[in-house]
This record gives sequence, C-alpha cells and structure tokens, in this order.
Amino acid sequence: MERRVSITDLKAMKKRGERIAMLTAYDYPSARMVEEAGVPIILVGDSLGMVVLGYDSTIPVTMDEMLHHVKAVVRGTRRAHVVADMPFMSYQAGPQDALRNAGRMLKEGGAQSVKLEGGQRTAEAVRLLVASGIPVMGHLGLTPQSVNQIGGYKVQGKTPAAAVKLVNDAVTLAEAGVYAIVLETIPAQLAKMVTEKVSVPTIGIGAGPHCDGQVQVFHDMLGLFADFVPKHAKRYARIGEVVVEAVSRYVDEVQEGDFPTDKESFFVDESAFSELTQLG
Ligand code: KIV
Repeated sequence: MERRVSITDLKAMKKRGERIAMLTAYDYPSARMVEEAGVPIILVGDSLGMVVLGYDSTIPVTMDEMLHHVKAVVRGTRRAHVVADMPFMSYQAGPQDALRNAGRMLKEGGAQSVKLEGGQRTAEAVRLLVASGIPVMGHLGLTPQSVNQIGGYKVQGKTPAAAVKLVNDAVTLAEAGVYAIVLETIPAQLAKMVTEKVSVPTIGIGAGPHCDGQVQVFHDMLGLFADFVPKHAKRYARIGEVVVEAVSRYVDEVQEGDFPTDKESFFVDESAFSELTQLG
C-alpha cells in the first residue's frame, strides 16, 4: 500500500542534503496536480484567505474554512504529506486551544501535521501538541497573522537584534519539537545561519537559496492571482491569462451561435423524435 511522506522522511531529506519542494494547494484538483508533479509536502496555507476567498489578509480565516479546504486536499492526495495551517486565533489564546484545534485538523481534516506562526510565544503550545502526537511545523520571520503588529509585509530580521531573536526563536522551536521551520521574507544570510544552526529542515519563502527547502503559493507561481505578485514569487506559468482568453472565446462563441455544435449535443433517433412531436 502506498504511504504518505512522514516527518521522518522530511528530516532524512535534510540529512541527505536533498532539497524539499513544498507548495500550497487548497482544493481537490490542485492537490492532485501538485502531487502528480512530485511535490512531497503540501501546505494548505491560510493564504487561501487571500488567493481563494478574496480577504485582504489572512486574519479573517476561520477553522471551519481551513477544515473545508484541508479535507479537499487530503481527498486529492495519497502520498504527499499534508500540512494544515492553523488560522489566526486558533492557537494564540493558549496551549489547550491550540491542542483542541490542531486535533481537529488531524482528526476531522485528515492532515498529517499543522503549522503555527511565532517563536518563543508558541513554544509551550508546540510542546503540548508534539507530546500529544501532533507534528508541528514552525513559521518565523514575516508572520502574516501579525501584519497589524509588524506594520506591513516587510522584510524581517534586518537589524542585529532582530536577527539574534530570530535565531533564538528557531532554536527554541527546534527544542520544543517542531519537525521543520518555515522562514518567510528574511535576509538570505540569516536564513543560512538558521539552516546551519538547527537540525530540522528550514523551508524558505523569500529567504534565499540556502534553506533546506522552498515553499511557494500555488496561485503566485502559476499566475492565478493578479492582485499582487510578491518579489519572492517566480511565475512558472501565466494560467490566469490562459483562463481569461479561453472564457472570452466561450462568450464569443455563445453570442455568435458557434457553441454548441452537433458534436456537443444529444439527439434521439428520428423515429423516437416523430413520436415525440406527435405527442406534442
Ligand atoms: O499560508 C501560507 O501559504 C503560508 C506560506 C506562505 C508559508 O504560510
């Protein structure tokens, strides 16, 4: 039987020097495609609030919205490790809250692990989750759920004091038991230091080339989200443009009477049809 990628597999990849390509997915078809393309670890990020649900930040995302999407991604995959992002206020109020909500992500959602933003301040929750059998991925640097505290989506860890704090947070998280740490929008040199300092894999997004892995947002890399393109995102395709072009052709063809043709239509044989018209 096929089995899912485990946190042990992911930690072994760092030891072997094998880079980890993580990507977000939010629904059944995207999860199937991402897995088929060979991605070993899929994040159902709360970024779905912005790229799928149209919120202007990740703050409004709820547990129910996350669970709805986590379940779809789990249904679309058989081998990939699925990480469920914990939305704002599902863990900040304390470790018991974190445990209850993280438990739902595994028990109801079917995810294999959860991700929490923050360093020192989330360490107690991380310890409780890990002790309860819930693998946790950490997230440091630009933590979008704190956008109102940070004052915008800015590069983090630029001053010596901020860099030292970030390294200490990474060490604290690793000691608390996280199996990996996302490093978002920090200087490449700082990400390199953290990657060398902790034994668990670092997964960068806007954190340079020295992390053990990279993560990107599905809609950013495929050109599906036109509102904003972050500097760290590389566009591997322009699917949004393909969609608009295809839908415009559909609109034209319906208006011109060129769609549907006989090829897309259904017919009864003539004898059945003449009986039908007699009935009419
Ligand atoms: O929500 C998300 O997609 C994330 C990644 C950007 C790491 O947290």
